[in-house]
Amino acid sequence: MSLTITPLAENAGAEVTGIDLRDPVDAETRARLNQAFLDHAALVFRDQDLTAQQFADASRIFGTPMRQLLKQYYVDGCPEVGVVSNRDRDTKGDGKLLIRGTTWHTDHSNQADPPKATALHAIAIPSTGGDTQVTNTAAAYAALPDAMKRRIDGLMAVHTYLSSRTPRKLPERTPEEKAATPDVTHPLVRVHPESGRKALYLNPVRIEGIVGMGDAEAFALLDELMAHATQERFQYRHRWRERDMLIWDDRCTMHQANPDYDMAELRYLHRLMLEGTPTA
Ligand code: SIN
Repeated sequence: MSLTITPLAENAGAEVTGIDLRDPVDAETRARLNQAFLDHAALVFRDQDLTAQQFADASRIFGTPMRQLLKQYYVDGCPEVGVVSNRDRDTKGDGKLLIRGTTWHTDHSNQADPPKATALHAIAIPSTGGDTQVTNTAAAYAALPDAMKRRIDGLMAVHTYLSSRTPRKLPERTPEEKAATPDVTHPLVRVHPESGRKALYLNPVRIEGIVGMGDAEAFALLDELMAHATQERFQYRHRWRERDMLIWDDRCTMHQANPDYDMAELRYLHRLMLEGTPTA
């Protein structure tokens, strides 16, 4: 079977067929996949029968998987792979059910060198719903009016573990996990280290403010940019099938999970992130 890459939407997403991710990947295939990843910001591989370790090994086509921050989600024996499940509870907080990823965000933007990419591999999927949306924030930046580009180029945003403004809940951290996650600043407009394209680097779950700007002005600006960046025309919406692997570029996208399915059904995925580089 030959490798085929088929775009799935105008600004994000392509489906890759003709590959079994358990097999070794030659240099030419690796180069084609990495180029497709840059061109489409998110790639889908169907029908991949992968253990957690094989999933981590497959992700090395695109980079180096990093150790998960929150230890309660590790897959046994594989600290690079965590679990995303609708049975998760905030075991260090109130013990209540905690469905993660349900509003727009980019992963771990509160790290100094935030991840390059996030990948999910579907083990169990509800019969309907539970889609993951990915929006391309480089395409969104390119479509901004020039006056807005001039206004935001050069601004720096403060990212914290959990913004005081977000309705989202994140798991409590241990003192050790807190020490490992101090606040950081990142440019609001990020230059992609490989493509050189500018992208909005937004994350309402983590952004606590804009350096040198009052909160009212900063949050009005961020809300305006979020409304722009999450328009359907910039998105790819992934409708899951079991054994899908989806990987997206965290440097130029945001994503969200949809908790719109019957919670009696199990939604259970393996998840990992690839190491990133400084944003400025
Ligand atoms: C995430 O935000 O990384 C999880 C997304 C999902 O569960 O679809």
